Amino acid sequence: TLARTSELIESAQRAAIAVPAFNVITIEHAEGIVAGAERANCAVILQVSENAVRYHDGRLRPILAACSELAVAAEIPVALHLDHLEDEDLVLAGIVQSGELGVSSLMIDASRMPYERNVEATASLAKRAREAGLWVEAELGEIGGKDGAHAPGVRTDPEEAAEFVRATGVDGLAVAVGSSHAMTSRQAELDLALIERLAQRLTVPLVLHGSSGVPDAVLRDAVKAGIRKVNIGTALNVGFTASVRGFLASDPGATDPRAYLRLGREAVAAEVSELCAVVAG
Ligand code: G3H
Ligand code: ZN
Repeated sequence: TLARTSELIESAQRAAIAVPAFNVITIEHAEGIVAGAERANCAVILQVSENAVRYHDGRLRPILAACSELAVAAEIPVALHLDHLEDEDLVLAGIVQSGELGVSSLMIDASRMPYERNVEATASLAKRAREAGLWVEAELGEIGGKDGAHAPGVRTDPEEAAEFVRATGVDGLAVAVGSSHAMTSRQAELDLALIERLAQRLTVPLVLHGSSGVPDAVLRDAVKAGIRKVNIGTALNVGFTASVRGFLASDPGATDPRAYLRLGREAVAAEVSELCAVVAG
């Protein structure tokens, strides 16, 4: 069923678990994620990033309409989220189209800006998004790796984070605690004590980005320490691409994309059901 992000996060808070949020690029990702989540009997968030929207010619509707259709038909609750929006116009388009697309949350990512400008940009857009009934996530302390290079050094300061949440009115906060985007091997070390301090200091749920690089045991500890939304993208693409590459290497004459996209979709489903058990089990 199509669910709202706020309800999934609230029920994760009550159960002291996290909601896994998986990045969708193609319809095969969305189908694979829903299939994997159904296998694990786990509520999930399908999230489409600004980069993925750009890949689809800057249009929200084609990929989100597919996600929404799959969510409605799913055996488990599925919420739709717009991820890492840096472009103000896309935030506004997301707000306007959220109702018809079934989107119930978005992330305003002004984390590349200095603190004051981050607060300003986030606060005014967050206000408009919240007025439209959306759950709003923002980021403080830029989490590295968005441009490919890993930069896991930055940390979110708990006092600054408390002030940021107060000043912007956001519902959830992405925190820099050691993870980094786009890691293809699982070797990130998280500052678990910092996650605990942030969870104690803040009234809003914490979001872990760059979770593909975090080993299972550390992900479990991060959820115990207070992470309530776990964002995963790259790990799905690693599995997807490996299966496609393997197929094409073994059958260089293949032409029908269904033969290999099917394998990619199944690799996504397998990864998703395992990760669901780790963060929401
Ligand atoms: O917002 C998306 C996530 O932070 C995904 O990060 O691709 O490194 O798993 P990842
Ligand atoms: Zn992220």
